[in-house]
Amino acid sequence: MTTAQPSPTAPSATAPADGLDVRPSPLALLLLGRESDPASERGVECPGDLPAPSDPDLVERARAAKERLGEKVFVLGHHYQRDEVIQFADVTGDSFKLARDAAARPEAEYIVFCGVHFMAESADILTGDHQQVVLPDLAAGCSMADMATAEQVAECWDVLTEAGVAGTTVPVSYMNSSADIKAFTGRHGGTICTSSNARRALDWAFSQGEKVLFLPDQHLGRNTAVRDMGMSLKDCVVYNPHKPNGGLTAGQLRDARMILWRGHCSVHGRFSLDSVNDVRERVPGVNVLVHPECRHEVVEAADHVGSTEYIIRTLEAAPAGSKWAIGTELNLVRRLANRFAPEGKEVVFLDRTVCFCSTMNRIDLPHLVWTLESLADGRVVNRIQVDPETEKFAKLALEQMLALP
Ligand code: 13P
Ligand code: SF4
Repeated sequence: MTTAQPSPTAPSATAPADGLDVRPSPLALLLLGRESDPASERGVECPGDLPAPSDPDLVERARAAKERLGEKVFVLGHHYQRDEVIQFADVTGDSFKLARDAAARPEAEYIVFCGVHFMAESADILTGDHQQVVLPDLAAGCSMADMATAEQVAECWDVLTEAGVAGTTVPVSYMNSSADIKAFTGRHGGTICTSSNARRALDWAFSQGEKVLFLPDQHLGRNTAVRDMGMSLKDCVVYNPHKPNGGLTAGQLRDARMILWRGHCSVHGRFSLDSVNDVRERVPGVNVLVHPECRHEVVEAADHVGSTEYIIRTLEAAPAGSKWAIGTELNLVRRLANRFAPEGKEVVFLDRTVCFCSTMNRIDLPHLVWTLESLADGRVVNRIQVDPETEKFAKLALEQMLALP
């Protein structure tokens, strides 16, 4: 569990004394981009002084606030962040690189995480107690991470226990999961993985047990097991947390090697086999390069598959004149298209329809300016803090990932 600590000046978000719940819904709060959702850590808390997006001085204000903070602040930026934000990142990376980088700056008092909530939680777990991790907009969650709750996963483990397979099952949880799920993983001797080390995580897990419970992205789990490790689709079953016993019989659980949680990324889920066929027609000779969160048939039809960092490295190494269709978030693809055009490398988006990650996009320049100026004035806002018990076990699972061969 995480506490997201808002600014000390924020109004307290409690139910009214008459007992009538007249609070606005979380959705309304998200749309307004203000105040907090008391029922969730993912409220938005920018009391009063969030700069207007039209302020022409935003870039200068961010620069000045960062300069005032100096070595005290370390800004991390995930590759899906907007250009206006990424220009202020001290380091950019995929979620694995950012987790390592966050841990490698013990002298920074404040870690400003321009990414999503689960990344900021992981940074809090991996950094020292003297460091404070800040997420510029608390509404920057991840819909995939929300698809596995602690209660659902505990219930799943009961189902596995009942079927007699829990003792031989090792949980492997994707980084895109809450700290609670990471703690579950640590408690049961498992590991975290990211899209850049999923294969190594599964190799390790199968050296520890006979089956893997893979949370929460069914696609990364299936793609790694089948495409990279040569398992068959029949080795995989999908556990649906919304059905009794996950929708599976004890026999199916006993026969399976990979028990995949029924979660997915709604951004990468938009790419289809048609997108691949269509781009191959539109751009003759194109290389299709996709993120492993894409559906299995998309990954099978692609030429290359890998994490955001892998996508960037592949384009860096590509020869001039080559053509690339990229299946991942649009901020990154657009940046890559602009970066590599002068080198004569053509980069296009895999799908014709726009595909931003709306929660990654929550972090914009006004929120970053508000965060940096508040910190420079000595006010810690939007702190992400994982409770000690959760942190202890989540850290075990994260450290297991960092120690993977
Ligand atoms: P990467 O680890 O490849 O950066 O992916 C993170 C993510 O959220 C992809 O949707
Ligand atoms: Fe989550 Fe998908 Fe956005 Fe990545 S792209 S942060 S998995 S919703």
